[in-house]
Amino acid sequence: MNKNGSNVDQPGADEEDIVNPWEVSTHSAKGVDYDKLITRFGSTKIDDVLIQRIEKATGKPVHHLLRRGIFFSQRDMEMILDVYEKKQPFYLYTGRGPSSEAMHMGHLIPFIFTKWLQDTFDVPLVIQLTDDEKFLWKDLTLDETNHLAFENAKDIIACGFDVEKTFIFSDLDFLTNSPAFYRTICRIQKLVTYNQVKGIFGFSDSDSIGKISFPAIQAAPSFSCMFPEIFSGRTDIPCLIPCAIDQDPYFRMTRDVAPRMGCLKPALLHSTFFPALQGAQTKMSASDPNSSIFVTDTDKQIKEKINKYAFSGGGATVEEHKAKGGNCEIDVSYQYLTFFMEDDKRLEEIRKTYASGELMTGSLKMELIEILQKLVGEHRERRAEVTDDMVRQFMKPRKLKYDYPPAESKK
Ligand code: TRP
Repeated sequence: MNKNGSNVDQPGADEEDIVNPWEVSTHSAKGVDYDKLITRFGSTKIDDVLIQRIEKATGKPVHHLLRRGIFFSQRDMEMILDVYEKKQPFYLYTGRGPSSEAMHMGHLIPFIFTKWLQDTFDVPLVIQLTDDEKFLWKDLTLDETNHLAFENAKDIIACGFDVEKTFIFSDLDFLTNSPAFYRTICRIQKLVTYNQVKGIFGFSDSDSIGKISFPAIQAAPSFSCMFPEIFSGRTDIPCLIPCAIDQDPYFRMTRDVAPRMGCLKPALLHSTFFPALQGAQTKMSASDPNSSIFVTDTDKQIKEKINKYAFSGGGATVEEHKAKGGNCEIDVSYQYLTFFMEDDKRLEEIRKTYASGELMTGSLKMELIEILQKLVGEHRERRAEVTDDMVRQFMKPRKLKYDYPPAESKK
């Protein structure tokens, strides 16, 4: 049951883990049971066969976030690979809810991975900034969320996206000048009943009608008909959505309505959550500065936060640690290394020596601190170079570098 008093995942599910767009929590120190989630959500585990197929199709090793099971679940990824292998087009769609100026490392994970997908598959990318959603859910004004969308776009751009391949839009801005956006929303809204969104999202009778109708707005960019500027009116370009698993309810709804709209179901790649410093029971929160490493943190803050707050799976004393070893499964610093350390060999060495008690928590943390200081430092530099003008370029509705000849059926 969630705070609203309803179980939004699936009625009748008796699991303790809560995973929905508004809340993620579990009682287990190891974090959410992702295998159970796959069963509950009805998605498919990303297995070695799929990973090998991606490597074969792209001719390069997959990103470590995929290799290490951080992107762990998928829907219809085989369809995307079929399309790619036939040299037919597809596009990427992801997004962010701009609820705070401070973005933390967890927020960057989907964008770091999406950037890799864009580089690897060489496809267009659309990024939705749901300033309307955050207005509806949070105690913020429209001007505030719209401003946050603009500021967050800078951090997203700093991840290295190519302006010729990427369209970033704020819902509040784009909806006022895109008939295709609103038309797509209306077509979705007509096909989803109140009863269905109640079942999927746990809305109650006292939720505003803004909230109840919002899922159609997050669903719309899954369909290429929403972007005539980019796809020259083609309605048959498949979409791949990389996102954290908590966003899946939106896309279960989207995939349900797609065939009835005569549209393709979007494919998905789901990630696990980036744990809070205090432990994997919950994801990081932008409102608690000590639960996260922010992209604006100084080297000193990073060092202090990791040393002071990162939950340790090590022994309580040096003697105990040496005798029993550390527990990587619950050690937040080790978990962070799996997200950010690129070197597979070194990571495995750390895992082994930490588990055996040879490597002490302090040394493990030191290695993480260095990696984070470098990553955040580089991000800070790139972010400082992103001007308002650059953001406006990314946000301008326009054709991207790809051409879309009319669909064969229309010839
Ligand atoms: N609702 C998401 C959030 O609050 C933002 C979002 C919109 C999104 N569209 C998306 C996330 C598509 C992933 C994929 O963060």
